[in-house]
Amino acid sequence: MADIDKKALIEERVNQGLLGQWYPVAKSVEVKDSRPYGAKLLGQKLVLWRDKEGKIQCIEDFCPHRGAPLSYGEIHDGDIGCRYHGVIVDGEGVVKRVPAMPECALEGRKALNSFHTTETHDAVFVYMPSVEQPEPPELALPHEFTSDEWTGFLCTSVWGTNYRYALDNLADPMHGCYLHSESFTLAYGAKQDLMKLDKTDDGFRVSRVEQSGENFDWSEFEVHPGTMFCFLDIPYPKAAGPGGNMRIVGFVAPIDATTCKVFFWRLRKVSGLARESWRFLYRAKLEANHWHVLEQDRVMLEGMPDDARKREMLYQHDLGVSRIRQMLTRAAKSQIEAELTASEAAE
Ligand code: FES
Ligand SMILES: [Fe+2]
Repeated sequence: MADIDKKALIEERVNQGLLGQWYPVAKSVEVKDSRPYGAKLLGQKLVLWRDKEGKIQCIEDFCPHRGAPLSYGEIHDGDIGCRYHGVIVDGEGVVKRVPAMPECALEGRKALNSFHTTETHDAVFVYMPSVEQPEPPELALPHEFTSDEWTGFLCTSVWGTNYRYALDNLADPMHGCYLHSESFTLAYGAKQDLMKLDKTDDGFRVSRVEQSGENFDWSEFEVHPGTMFCFLDIPYPKAAGPGGNMRIVGFVAPIDATTCKVFFWRLRKVSGLARESWRFLYRAKLEANHWHVLEQDRVMLEGMPDDARKREMLYQHDLGVSRIRQMLTRAAKSQIEAELTASEAAE
């Protein structure tokens, strides 16, 4: 295959989102045993529901009969029934029954792809297999999830922008004191600085050189087999009650080339009464402030043209942005090469 084609395939893969990853697709409460939930990941329509044991099933959102969305259907005994002519499909993507037609040959056929799912910390994750990694590695979790010192809330939002811009935004602490300068928590600190990038055990940390603990001054990305997430701290003013900084743990899922879904856990390391009072304060007051800040990010990113990166002029502060792109490109290259090798071997 000519080099130029391979380059285009890599770029396309980066644009669509990497395979071989666990991505969050929904809050746990959104996926019910009473009705199916339609989602989209990497341009692919999916349907999710809970079977009789409460386990989440996920298959293509496409009826094997004539392609109606199964997410418009209903759940029958832990399987999913199409609203159009009643065909019933199970969580493996096998046609269980064609009620309109006795002894229909479709029954028992594996017709659809099914996907591994897992649920943790109020979110549902789906694994998108790759040629290199068809079976999912165990989902690596942020340490805040596995320690009971932290407590928090998950918030999700759909942004009309390519997922890479959401990642770039997280790898760019310098925007805090500009974009969010009017906010409750991010109005502090100097407006000029340099950035530095440090390698960590599992990824990298990008931070302001002159300032720490004043604003959104650093962020850290962790890359594990099958997942990538980031975390950062937002210093809290006294008025925000007890406990230290607020930690944000973020995952970004590509819905399609121009839309993504962000999953942010807002966490605090507080225990006992302070924990209860923070949880109360968060719901009563702070959550609205945080939404306001998040909306500023969304509006800014949605305002940027899809191909902004073809004309951009990066400067020193964009170390984190460059590193993210390098990581995505490297991973995409390895996926594409594995696919090309596999398809050559098959010929
Ligand atoms: S399209 Fe689903 S049953 Fe006909
Ligand atoms: Fe922001």
